[in-house]
Amino acid sequence: MAKITASVYTSHVPAIGAALDLGKTQEPYWQPVFRGYDFSKQWMKDHQPDVIFLVYNDHATAFSLDMIPTFAIGTAASYRPADEGWGPRPVPVVQGHPELSAHIAQSVIQQDFDLTIVNKMDVDHGLTVPLSLLCGQPAAWPCPVIPFAVNVVQYPVPSGQRCFNLGKAIHKAVESYDQPLKVQIWGTGGMSHQLQGPRAGLINKVFDNAFLDRLIADPEGQASVPHIDYVREAGSEGIELVMWLIARGAMADVTGGAKPKVAHRFYHVPASNTALGHLILENN
Ligand code: DHB
Ligand code: FE
Repeated sequence: MAKITASVYTSHVPAIGAALDLGKTQEPYWQPVFRGYDFSKQWMKDHQPDVIFLVYNDHATAFSLDMIPTFAIGTAASYRPADEGWGPRPVPVVQGHPELSAHIAQSVIQQDFDLTIVNKMDVDHGLTVPLSLLCGQPAAWPCPVIPFAVNVVQYPVPSGQRCFNLGKAIHKAVESYDQPLKVQIWGTGGMSHQLQGPRAGLINKVFDNAFLDRLIADPEGQASVPHIDYVREAGSEGIELVMWLIARGAMADVTGGAKPKVAHRFYHVPASNTALGHLILENN
């Protein structure tokens, strides 16, 4: 059977992708950001998954205001890096895993979550920047990726509780797949940031670090925090953090297994207009 081996959490700031693509990683501003991922890149090599289930949000790139799925699972054979206005990022095409995607869709929908099936889409910085941070600049990404898009852009957004429960359903789905695959689940976005309006530039280090503490030690408790608390405390785009609860809900301890091992934790301000957070949890 397939297994969820670990969860990875990271911000997906687009300027980080640009810094990488334009060869600026050694500049004084960016050095401390990328240094936080040195451990992670080696960890990825040492803990090579067969598939990455990558939870992210589309930023009005693949989905416009014409149609807004709350949860959408990619079932395609491949996904191209999206053109977000400056041409597509010079990164590899993302290979999918249609068989595992179809299995997860079947299982999760039968567990009463409504998923939109996406057979064709391009993927924006929400998905490609985390891959770049953890994998560097390879000629091909190290394994197939299943994109899982969550609406945190247009209200109403799903609650942290619903995201956490969805993570449990994804865990069950993955572990009922009849192939011995090692699957990592990634939650991306955050941490505190607000990109527009009078509060633009908002950063809340206290909130962010409390979120990291609680995500590790008391995810059930964190799941009960209402969406408005994220928006008030962590800014309008801080709501992206509910996606981390999907990945956390898929870890073994949530359904009676052992507590995960904290392999890596990193926090840095600023990265562009945002606070950057990163965590790696391993299932024991
Ligand atoms: C920015 C955009 C994002 O989607 C994000 O998560 C963080 C920062 C930005 O445009 O700076
Ligand atoms: Fe974002």
